[in-house]
Amino acid sequence: MKWQVCKDYDSISQKAAELIRDTLIDNNIRSVIGFATGSTPIGTYRKLIEMYESKECDFSNMISVNLDEYIGISQDDAQSYYHFMHENLFDHINIQEENIHLPKPDGNTKDYNAVLDTVGRRNIQILGIGNNGHIAFNEPNEYLNARTSIIDLDESTIQANARFFEKEEDVPKQAISMGIGDILNADLIILLISGKKKQQATQRLYHEKKITTRFPASLLFAHPNVVVLVDEDAFGTIAND
Ligand code: F6R
Repeated sequence: MKWQVCKDYDSISQKAAELIRDTLIDNNIRSVIGFATGSTPIGTYRKLIEMYESKECDFSNMISVNLDEYIGISQDDAQSYYHFMHENLFDHINIQEENIHLPKPDGNTKDYNAVLDTVGRRNIQILGIGNNGHIAFNEPNEYLNARTSIIDLDESTIQANARFFEKEEDVPKQAISMGIGDILNADLIILLISGKKKQQATQRLYHEKKITTRFPASLLFAHPNVVVLVDEDAFGTIAND
């Protein structure tokens, strides 16, 4: 796991977008990129849109797969991750609609695993991290799923996601999420971490020496090519610890 501590959110977003751009250029016939939702990757998506507008980046041969989706809301719902990805990225670049893949809110895990198998290994997987160490929606537990599964969201995740909803009771309680085996099926994993709220999770990941399903991000130690792009707010005082 390679750590790159960047000054601020803008710098981690720029670095992540450059890594994606360079991969798209190197694999211009076909690239597969795994995307995440949540607040953290929004800056990266803005940078990718700017790169598209300035003709630095062409998305016509990019295949996208997303990590997760809420269960029980429709794709047209403003809170769905389908909507999020279109609003924050896909509607502003030249990706082909048939190359866009997200798990469906009906919770059909079999179909999504088949999509992942067809699409194959990703060139890059973008990840964020939950305050409790979750990656995608793999919540701390005595076991973690290898493949796409339906997850009961942790109370802490429901509370964290409530900021996007009018009322906390509107936050879906379940999600469909790629499993750990699916997440690791990428040549490069970029973990984005930003903001003071993520200090605790960052410290734990930085100091953790073991792989434990009680801290799902530690499963990333099993992958040979993970880059953590973290801003100074999230990194905090680790360097002086
Ligand atoms: C989103 C996802 C989640 C988020 C995590 C951090 O697709 O899988 O694991 O990456 O909850 O969310 P933010 O970036 O909003 O802090």
